[in-house]
Amino acid sequence: MTHPVLTALGLNDTESGTYLGNGEWANAGNAGTLEPLSPTDGESLAKVHATTQSDYDTIVERAQAAFKVWRSTPAPRRGEAVRLCADALREHKDALGSLVALEMGKSKPEGDGEVQEMIDIGEFAVGLSRQLYGLTMHSERPGHRMYEQWHPLGVVGVISAFNFPVAVWAWNALVSAVCGNITIWKPSPKTPLSAIASIKICNEALRKGGFPDIFFLFNDAGTELAQHFVDDKRINLISFTGSTKVGRHVGERVARRMGRSLLELGGNNAMIVDASADLKLAIPAIVFGAVGTAGQRCTSTRRVFIHESIYDDVLAKLVTAYKQVEGKIGDPTDPANLMGPLNSPEGVKEFLAAIEKAKAAGGKVESGGEAIDRKGNFVLPTLITGLANSSEVVQTETFAPILYVMKFSTLDEAIEMQNDVPQGLSSAIFTESLKAAEQFLAAWGSDCGIANVNIGTSGAEIGGAFGGEKETGGGRESGSDAWRAYMRRQTNTINYSDELPLAQGIKFDL
Ligand code: UN1
Repeated sequence: MTHPVLTALGLNDTESGTYLGNGEWANAGNAGTLEPLSPTDGESLAKVHATTQSDYDTIVERAQAAFKVWRSTPAPRRGEAVRLCADALREHKDALGSLVALEMGKSKPEGDGEVQEMIDIGEFAVGLSRQLYGLTMHSERPGHRMYEQWHPLGVVGVISAFNFPVAVWAWNALVSAVCGNITIWKPSPKTPLSAIASIKICNEALRKGGFPDIFFLFNDAGTELAQHFVDDKRINLISFTGSTKVGRHVGERVARRMGRSLLELGGNNAMIVDASADLKLAIPAIVFGAVGTAGQRCTSTRRVFIHESIYDDVLAKLVTAYKQVEGKIGDPTDPANLMGPLNSPEGVKEFLAAIEKAKAAGGKVESGGEAIDRKGNFVLPTLITGLANSSEVVQTETFAPILYVMKFSTLDEAIEMQNDVPQGLSSAIFTESLKAAEQFLAAWGSDCGIANVNIGTSGAEIGGAFGGEKETGGGRESGSDAWRAYMRRQTNTINYSDELPLAQGIKFDL
């Protein structure tokens, strides 16, 4: 029987994973099937036919043809198309949020929150469609004008991860669409249904509004087609979200063909709790940061540095809060639960392996530390003390709700430890001291792409540029001027005089 959450979105228990354009979904080919399993009970949710090489080629050819039309559509008109998508997503927010909860395993409010991010970035992109500004410059030559303009880039490839199965696509695709590009999406093999549903919602809205195909979808049962996608010269930009290990590979391969890449890789995000911190704010922020999405956000809080003067008190409060969360772990589609399962059984293995490593390195489990003995991929949120920031397990991103709790005595020391990891995504300080806050945000403070004061490391708003430094990959997407990654800049100099003066005062008299 088809799961009611799928039925609510018009999905069946067998779906095509390939949107070919022209309203057509590919028939089953010989590329195998994906079978997303419910993280809650391990049951199969549906079967999804993977994409064949020849259907992939059809998609790319159609995307290239669509680009020729879309690039000459005025940007505000492109914004109108995205507005229809945002409206349709708003209409389906509850159903799509439930599907995200069901398939990924995050709590229902977080599933809905993810769809809200899609709506928000859509509305941001609509406004942006009238603001793709370039600069004008003063020419050094008389009777000359210089300016820059931003042109569409072409076909954009989005490879997204299971943890944000729909929002990250929207950050890319909706901004890219107003920039004049066509987007081809390869979602995580763990969450193809959320992707199919999103494409159906948006494409139906576009077709009703008389707009052409601007979003395509393919699914890969293995990694062969995805690798081909990364190497494909016809894809002008590859936006990849995932592990540093795979992202390094993607970045190198795209660079080899002189393509563009936008990388959103691992984080190892820390929070500093200063002696003056308001614990009414800090405790829930730490708990949401570490336990929200069962620790499977790239922005999840993985390390917390607590000032030695309040260390015992904060640790005791965290242990109490973790016990409260333990009472609210369960079916993620039930809005009463704060924490669902990990997405996959492999995630549980990685969680347990990290705990073993932590213990072997001298770590003490203060709370949690075990998988829950029930169906599905449930684990206990875990607090570990007694490890140095430099220990291997602390330096490594484990996609699970494990928080390493450490002590510091001076702010300089805390900032140094917080920066002393290979990743550089998100960071936060809790303090009532203006000086400490500003030190943390200074050039010699946090080295991350995101640095917050008195809010946690996760849950960034779409309006800012999202991404990080070092092994996080350097990419920025979502708000601010991240749109520039999806366009090509052209510098134009126009001579409206009757002379031909050369720049730099060069004389070239014939
Ligand atoms: C991710 O984990 O890949 O800042 C994205 C956040 C969310 C996005 C996370 N808005 O936690």
